[in-house]
Amino acid sequence: MPRIERDIAQLKAEVAQRPLPRHVGIIMDGNGRWAEQRGLPRLEGHRRGSDSVREVTRAARRLGLSALTLYAFSSQNWERPPDEVAGLMDLLRDYLHRERPEIMENGIRLHAIGELDRLPPRVRDPLEALRRDSATHTDMTLTLALSYGGREEIIAMARRIAADRIDPDSIDARAIEDRLWTEGLPPLELVVRTSGEFRVSNFLLWQLAYAEIHFTETLWPDFGELDLLLAIEDFQKRERRFGKTSAQIRTA
Ligand code: FPP
Repeated sequence: MPRIERDIAQLKAEVAQRPLPRHVGIIMDGNGRWAEQRGLPRLEGHRRGSDSVREVTRAARRLGLSALTLYAFSSQNWERPPDEVAGLMDLLRDYLHRERPEIMENGIRLHAIGELDRLPPRVRDPLEALRRDSATHTDMTLTLALSYGGREEIIAMARRIAADRIDPDSIDARAIEDRLWTEGLPPLELVVRTSGEFRVSNFLLWQLAYAEIHFTETLWPDFGELDLLLAIEDFQKRERRFGKTSAQIRTA
């Protein structure tokens, strides 16, 4: 579907009047294709993708979203060619240094989920420092999913359940959510996937249960404020039924 050109200010005003999704997750895809279409190295696509991260984070905070989770590097991405992995780690390091002032000055809490001990020190150290220093911020939680996999998260949760020696009869959704890496974050209500792919690719598998999914053809380096607003507008038009009938929802 072609991207609809809309007036951003008007769309923002309309979207802001209606309830916002409490937690938006984004599968940022298409950096490689964006670069290849321009005869550029794939890493240039990732670099432009990190500019989109800045623009979308700013737009989300100004709009008043309380939680934004970005899928920046999957557990499976370690299998990419070593120079691409190293380049992505350099970009993450640069991002953490460059964005630190904006995060600290704008009340953003930086959080991270994933197998963080697999990250090299040049990423893990500034990540941990920013996480610690922004821990009391309350305007918006920006979560980076890094070395993240939904299945890996579920395995880690199951191990914690076993280690905590929980009585099997008392294992409920709450017991599971308290042991997922997303513990404490608001329920995921909208997931956006860019680049025209229709997959969830191991992203927040448990949390996706009742999320709305918005797919867009836009490649991540071209994704900006307008695209975020269009995704939220799409969410706001959906009827969320949670297994009930349309009539029940209308009556409630
Ligand atoms: C998928 O595109 C994207 C990634 C694997 C990495 C996402 C990374 C960034 C947006 C930049 C760094 C992140 C931060 C938070 C600064 P792809 O390479 O799979 O694209 P393709 O499917 O077109 O090849």
